[in-house]
Amino acid sequence: MAETGKVKFLWRVLLCLITLTLLVLCVNLAGPMWDQLDMTTSKYLQKQRQNSSDAEFGRHDRLLTAAENVTSLPSELRTILSSRDSCTKPVTNFVFIKVHKTGSASTAVILIRFAYNHHMIMCYGNRGMRLTFPRTEIYKSSCARWKEFGDRFNFIVQHTVFNKTAMDRIMRPGTKYIGIMREPLSHFRSQFFFFKDPRRYGLRKSRNPLGAFLDNPERYELKVTKNLTRSRERNKQAFVMGFPPDLLGTQDTRLMDNVIKQLDQWYTFVIINEYYDESLVMLRRKLCWGLFDILHSTKHVNKQHNRKKYVSLTNKQLQNHKRINTIDFRMYDFFNKTFWRSVEEETRKGFWEEVTYFKDVVKRVNTYCSKRKKEKHLQIPTSKWNKPFSVNGNFCKGLNRDPKVWGRKLFHQMVHSVKKKKKRKHL
Ligand SMILES: *[C@@H]1O[C@H](CO)[C@@H](O)[C@H](O)[C@H]1NC(C)=O
Ligand SMILES: *[C@@H]1O[C@H](CO)[C@@H](O)[C@H](O)[C@H]1NC(C)=O
Ligand SMILES: *[C@@H]1O[C@H](CO)[C@@H](O)[C@H](O)[C@H]1NC(C)=O
Ligand SMILES: *[C@@H]1O[C@H](CO)[C@@H](O)[C@H](O)[C@H]1NC(C)=O
Ligand SMILES: *[C@@H]1O[C@H](CO)[C@@H](O)[C@H](O)[C@H]1NC(C)=O
Repeated sequence: MAETGKVKFLWRVLLCLITLTLLVLCVNLAGPMWDQLDMTTSKYLQKQRQNSSDAEFGRHDRLLTAAENVTSLPSELRTILSSRDSCTKPVTNFVFIKVHKTGSASTAVILIRFAYNHHMIMCYGNRGMRLTFPRTEIYKSSCARWKEFGDRFNFIVQHTVFNKTAMDRIMRPGTKYIGIMREPLSHFRSQFFFFKDPRRYGLRKSRNPLGAFLDNPERYELKVTKNLTRSRERNKQAFVMGFPPDLLGTQDTRLMDNVIKQLDQWYTFVIINEYYDESLVMLRRKLCWGLFDILHSTKHVNKQHNRKKYVSLTNKQLQNHKRINTIDFRMYDFFNKTFWRSVEEETRKGFWEEVTYFKDVVKRVNTYCSKRKKEKHLQIPTSKWNKPFSVNGNFCKGLNRDPKVWGRKLFHQMVHSVKKKKKRKHL
């Protein structure tokens, strides 16, 4: 009797010890996770206690938005983050309407990096940066290996022409559209040389091909096209942004403005090239992204150096340029105004303070990235707009990666994850 009592007692002690060890292990493992969770939760509550008209933060959910890489957080934390309200959840379904020569390649790098970090499924065309442009339609079958990637896509970044009906059909519900525009004259100067137009119009030897062309555009255009509204020198930004091709020949400014207003309804945001950093901060706010997500290289992708580009133009030449690009001008004007209206709205919410801060971080990151011999990490501490994060050499590689290479990288990630899923099914 005494013997069995002793054994029972010993067993109990042993069980207790095992339980204790397990508990300690658990706490150790879960500790960091719960610390993080606690920190965020308490910050959130603290934030809630503060006045909701908090001018510095704009909306108090900004603090949580700053979770720079939401996918890498523990799932419990993610649930808390995303259950708050719409702005705690970054937009991860979007199409970028990539307009040539507007700074869109630099933007593409930012967006593809984001898509890569969020494991997004891209409709990918494997012909460099071209997907369907200049065609105005798009189908599932326009996307490489489309059958393998489930029902719908949630990202497009390569060159297309905006067509909401067609794109809505192949994209996940709720997909947002992002456009980009550039002041039409500087856009014209840029594309004229980029697409080797002087040669096209027999102006290669001219001292001032741009001026010569603009003295009498029709004379040159009719050499290469029968239909002037299709000339590549006319309203190309409007065309890519979705202005209906059969209306491009109109002279009716009221009609133009109505169409532009309709397009405006469909775009969540249009980046204005002339105000690039400001646009990115606005984009971040509209899509509920973190500051980390919009970091960009200060080196321009596709920068050209051609003195002939910067000649000054006569009044007549300027007028001719305006005359053949009326829609682009009106559209740019409209979206520029829209942009500045949102800036006005966001100014109360610390917009300019954030722009200044963002520019500084971009500078620091680019300086770090341009060093041959760099420290292992560059730490960016907490601010009103971001949680602390760090960048390293690998990040720098991505910062300056050609968008084509980035695109392929994302595509490989997609293919790889599909393969992994299939394998799991078979097991
Ligand atoms: C809090 O907000 C209310 C209404 O927006 C305002 O009247 C009040 O002055 C604010 N209080 C503080 C402490 O900022
Ligand atoms: C974000 O998190 C995912 C998943 O943990 C990870 O694969 C990816 O590298 C992270 N991205 C960055 C920029 O830290
Ligand atoms: C846009 O796509 C729809 C659906 O495919 C098509 O019917 C329409 O003609 C397209 N618009 C243009 C301008 O091609
Ligand atoms: C010229 O092209 C536009 C746009 O494709 C089209 O709507 C128009 O009918 C064409 N005009 C002629 C004369 O072919
Ligand atoms: C854009 O709009 C702002 C505000 O209305 C104006 O000051 C600026 O000149 C415009 N930019 C261009 C390039 O037209």
